[in-house]
Amino acid sequence: METTFKIPPSIKIETFPSYEALSQAVAGRVAAQIKAKPDSVLGLPTGNTPLGTYKELSLLSKPEAKENFVDWSKARCFALDDYIDVDERFSFHAFLVDKIYRHTNLSGSQSFYPGLTDDYDHLIEETGGLDLTLLGIGNNGHIAFNEPGTCPASWTHCTWLDESTRQANKAAFEGNTPPTRAVTMGLATILSSRKIILIVSGEKKKTILEKALCQPVSRDVPASLLQMHQRVEVLTDFAVSCAV
Ligand code: PGA
Repeated sequence: METTFKIPPSIKIETFPSYEALSQAVAGRVAAQIKAKPDSVLGLPTGNTPLGTYKELSLLSKPEAKENFVDWSKARCFALDDYIDVDERFSFHAFLVDKIYRHTNLSGSQSFYPGLTDDYDHLIEETGGLDLTLLGIGNNGHIAFNEPGTCPASWTHCTWLDESTRQANKAAFEGNTPPTRAVTMGLATILSSRKIILIVSGEKKKTILEKALCQPVSRDVPASLLQMHQRVEVLTDFAVSCAV
């Protein structure tokens, strides 16, 4: 039976043949954003999903990229979230520096972290607001660390992590116990971004993505809130269908 629920036309879905092609496409969009507006304000995720994007962007941030060179000198980057009470080497702060910032000409004063900044939302607003935010989706439908049940009107806040999130991220902790708490941009923070790209890789994310896009908005699936945004691109490396 075909579902009668339609994905809102504001959500554009594009499927790529591989993770590499998906990552190149996302990197291309970020590069185009910075080229069009050198002082762009970006919201950036961590996790496995954006690794390919950051690898591509790192290549584009070297002088050898010549006419494709991405100049981060005026950009401002806001991390989506971070753990609380975590060894620095496991922090998202360290992740972003290692995977992307150190490969670019972004200066330390242009990158911001919710765990190290008071009044994150005010700072985002002061910089002119998020132009483009990249997101991944958790197996439980979270975006950033907005776990199921999070208030849709939430701004940056501290939260308890779902047990499923802690288990999903366990491998990164090299045998140490994953933290229980985090600080995250809220759903309202994310939805305030002018453009959003949701990157989704791997068939294991298919069910939760289709739930987020093909069913009515629900706080049980935080990513479904993206249906309420006017400019969302969902880029995947698997086919998305709303047939149930
Ligand atoms: P992943 O995490 O990219 O490691 O799958 C995504 C998320 O939890 O938001």
